[in-house]
Amino acid sequence: MDLPKKVIWITGASSGIGEALAYEFNKKGAHVILSARRIEELERVKENCNNSDEAVKVLPLDLTDSQSFAQKTEEAIGMFGSVDMLINNGGISQRAFAADARMETIRQVMEVNFFGTVGLTKALLPHLIEQKAGHIVVISSVMGKIGTKYRSSYAASKHALHGWFDCLRQEMYEHNINVTLVCPGYVKTEVTVNALTGDGEKFNKMGDAQNKAMSAEAFAQKLLPKLAKEKEEVYIGGFEVLSVYMKRWMPGTLNKVLKRVKVT
Ligand SMILES: NC(=O)c1ccc[n+]([C@@H]2O[C@H](COP(=O)([O-])OP(=O)(O)OC[C@H]3O[C@@H](n4cnc5c(N)ncnc54)[C@H](OP(=O)(O)O)[C@@H]3O)[C@@H](O)[C@H]2O)c1
Repeated sequence: MDLPKKVIWITGASSGIGEALAYEFNKKGAHVILSARRIEELERVKENCNNSDEAVKVLPLDLTDSQSFAQKTEEAIGMFGSVDMLINNGGISQRAFAADARMETIRQVMEVNFFGTVGLTKALLPHLIEQKAGHIVVISSVMGKIGTKYRSSYAASKHALHGWFDCLRQEMYEHNINVTLVCPGYVKTEVTVNALTGDGEKFNKMGDAQNKAMSAEAFAQKLLPKLAKEKEEVYIGGFEVLSVYMKRWMPGTLNKVLKRVKVT
């Protein structure tokens, strides 16, 4: 990856993993476009970057507003003349039992994580196809590969991303466009605080595992070399990443363990 010449568009750049990725790409000399809903947080992230006036642009975006995606994409391309990499990172989690989650809440998680990600990617595809190059990155989760208690619609949305983007990867091969699905384990961010309860309220509690997890900065540092190698699927985390391999090679054992774990 010749980063000083690349334009990287990051969703969910107002906090956590997206913010850390913005700093990491900025340090390497890339041009960065920051998107999320909270403009003041995006401006804060921009201020923390090097050479921010020339190298960083803020583009507010709500992933539930699919009507805006064509216009936002045009604006993003106009900011530096092209987009080379879209990092679909914006997302929301769930903390509620499946039996207690309202359909509206389930749809909201799907709207942000799945339809928002797919819609924005589709809006950018004609540009990437025309320039015969590009890289689409999706921040999925270990929950995109397995399912545990209290996260049903979140896991469903992340599993759905794997289906859609695995198909897209095969279709984009002839256009020289790469697709990378990234599965983080626990990363210390506000993702659990911001998660939705069954009735769609904010969970507002920090998860125990999140608290002890790797920092978003450490995560971003581990991810960049893997993107440079154009990996198709990436797992970054602690012991929880083992569950992805257990699901593949010993699914019965994994299910036995997961049925007994306490809810967090
Ligand atoms: N932290 C972990 O342990 C972990 C593990 C696996 C996967 N992930 C994934 O990593 C990604 C980033 O999460 P995080 O951990 O960094 O948590 P976070 O700090 O809560 O960040 C979530 C980001 O998504 C944005 N977002 C939420 N709803 C949005 C909407 N409707 N439109 C546009 N942007 C929206 C938020 O910005 P605004 O509120 O400003 O819109 C924020 O920037 C998510 O996709 C998450 O599923 C995280």
